[in-house]
Amino acid sequence: MTFAEPGELDADELAAAIAAQNADELRDYQKHMWAWLWMAHPHLAHWARPLHAWLDEPAEPTRDGAMRATADAALRHGLIKLTGDRDRRQRSDILGALLEILRSPSGRDGLGAFHTPLPLADAIVHGMLSELPPPGTPFREPAVGSGIMFCAAASRIRALGGDPANYRWRGTELDPVAAATCAVNAALWGLGGDVLIMHGDEVAEPDIEQRFHRERDAIRAHHQTTIGKVTISRVLAGVRQLVDLANTGPA
Ligand SMILES: C[S@@+](CC[C@H](N)C(=O)[O-])C[C@H]1O[C@@H](n2cnc3c(N)ncnc32)[C@H](O)[C@@H]1O
Repeated sequence: MTFAEPGELDADELAAAIAAQNADELRDYQKHMWAWLWMAHPHLAHWARPLHAWLDEPAEPTRDGAMRATADAALRHGLIKLTGDRDRRQRSDILGALLEILRSPSGRDGLGAFHTPLPLADAIVHGMLSELPPPGTPFREPAVGSGIMFCAAASRIRALGGDPANYRWRGTELDPVAAATCAVNAALWGLGGDVLIMHGDEVAEPDIEQRFHRERDAIRAHHQTTIGKVTISRVLAGVRQLVDLANTGPA
């Protein structure tokens, strides 16, 4: 739901519409949001799989109940107002904050998974980026978490008059859910197409970037093929309709 944008509705109207959905409608709405990510950034949707794989499971009352409770809590706390506003969305790490709260203290300690607060990340980045770096400059984070340093760097680039989508973003993360969260954030923060969010061990696999480059290429190729097949089947359906019309038209 962090992708929800009010569009024609205002934030309250969209929130009310989602709140009124039954379980099937709410599940379809979530699928629709993930499909949007897949259309725009198939590799990010693929790397975010730990966050949406549950939608491929058969519907089940306990899961539906959890989905409803999570959606209601998010709506009650103004999620749509936050995600519907581009400036606020680009400065928020909702999923990262959630992840930190949900993780057990022992799990957190084991991974060293305490996230840098955004004001501190801003201060660090401000010291590093006094002027706009040339387009194509890579930003690399070997323990990226949910990506808060990327959030701060993207904000700084915008403040300096640049566009984060013109840079290369590389983040490695050991924890699969944190990596998935970072993949979603990369889309929310507008980091563009040259993003690799790599679930793996930066120390044990120093050339992890090459593996993920290949993976991204394969995901994009599969995406193109799928889109091509859908387009061809639509064209064929249109042709079939025309032929039917011609056959049933006046003699
Ligand atoms: C202190 S958090 C920092 C997250 C983020 N960079 C920030 O500033 O908020 C450290 C992160 O490093 C990850 N991590 C620990 N060892 C790692 C490794 N060998 N390779 C990749 N990530 C690792 C943890 O899972 C955790 O998310």
